[in-house]
Amino acid sequence: MSAKTVDDFLDRVRQSAGDGTLVRLNLGASIQPDGIRNVFIRPVRLKDSALLSFVYRHPTRDVTKNFPPDEALDLLRDLLGRQFLNAFLSTTAGTAQLTFRKGRPTRMVLGKAEVAEAPDLAHDRAKERPVPGTSAWLRELGVTAADGSVKAGMESKFRQINRFVEVLQPLLVAARLDPSEPLHLVDMGCGKAYLTFAAYEHLSKTRTGAVTATGVEVRPGLVEQGRVVAGRCGFAQLKFEAGDIASSRLDSASVVMALHACDTATDEALAKGVQSGAPLILVSPCCHREVRPQLTVPEPLAGPLRHGIFRERHAEFATDALRALLLEWAGYETRVFEFISTEHTGKNLMIAAIRRKTPGDTEARARAVAEFARFHGIVRQRLAERLGFDLMHAAAPAQGQVPVQTPAAVQDPIPNPTVP
Ligand SMILES: C[S@@+](CC[C@H](N)C(=O)[O-])C[C@H]1O[C@@H](n2cnc3c(N)ncnc32)[C@H](O)[C@@H]1O
Repeated sequence: MSAKTVDDFLDRVRQSAGDGTLVRLNLGASIQPDGIRNVFIRPVRLKDSALLSFVYRHPTRDVTKNFPPDEALDLLRDLLGRQFLNAFLSTTAGTAQLTFRKGRPTRMVLGKAEVAEAPDLAHDRAKERPVPGTSAWLRELGVTAADGSVKAGMESKFRQINRFVEVLQPLLVAARLDPSEPLHLVDMGCGKAYLTFAAYEHLSKTRTGAVTATGVEVRPGLVEQGRVVAGRCGFAQLKFEAGDIASSRLDSASVVMALHACDTATDEALAKGVQSGAPLILVSPCCHREVRPQLTVPEPLAGPLRHGIFRERHAEFATDALRALLLEWAGYETRVFEFISTEHTGKNLMIAAIRRKTPGDTEARARAVAEFARFHGIVRQRLAERLGFDLMHAAAPAQGQVPVQTPAAVQDPIPNPTVP
């Protein structure tokens, strides 16, 4: 091994870290792949100090440590050729690849620059995200590459995942979910489970109470994939169940969520959340097919709603507004907002329902549901059915009165069928 070549490589690292041209430095070809597999190094600025951030990648977890440049160079000297047989340096001036082979001289191959500009550290810091790109499950699900960078085409998915976690945190506080208490999260229609993994990892890191999570998904292939990835990441308390939301068993949960579950699957998830008494329910509805054919509104709305696009948007509004009113009636406070800009996805509405301490004025809330449904001509809606709100009766009340109904789910929970 040529010490001069190693010195030359380390000089390049020192110089680029000092003059701000360092882009990244990756160590690979570990001689102990069961220990630390890689180290990903990049410049960071913390509290006005220029540091080098080392992400140590173990088989199931990442550990990040930041070092002043001199200390980082001492560490590198120890690691190069001893623990890692490959080092790749990228600066705005060019690349340098250093390889070690037992009994053969060290080689350093120089190449053209990968990028013309060094990362803007201030900007980078401003964009610190709750779900770091280095999370192992992001890599397993194909969102990020081995060095933690987001893969081309996955940028909006990465932003959506982070935005979801940002939105979740204050809602947990609003729902009075004490961080020291155990928390069980159920994700209905979890799909590839990006958001299930994000929530599980973030909650496990930020809460002191035990965190458990279950993803429910009708497609067995995705369930199996979720189990494999959870196993590889060492997420022992993250489970996946195959089955339909409507027939899944849910005895109790702290958070029930259903993001982009199709059409009335959203209602089934909302009903499960209410019936289990979950303190927090989150849905982001998708496809609104049930209500649209029923819409009959008086003038002056009827005219414009002959246009297909207005009718579609109005059906979305009427469905989600009715859902929010039903949740209010069932003892929840609701918040409705866009959780990510439409630039990332059209399906961006979120309904957050936080269980109230007391049911409140159930009669007034029942009237609000009934009047809204009657105005729109809605006589059938899955959440209303599941919660025992008779919309048909509300549509044609006796003697012009809107009947007052009591939430069945609150007074007499509907028994949950077990997954067959
Ligand atoms: C559009 S994907 C969304 C996945 C995930 N929630 C997300 O937002 O990234 C909807 C998922 O819900 C699942 N799904 C739809 N209806 C379901 C039902 N009734 N029971 C269980 N899973 C369902 C689909 O198979 C699909 O994987």
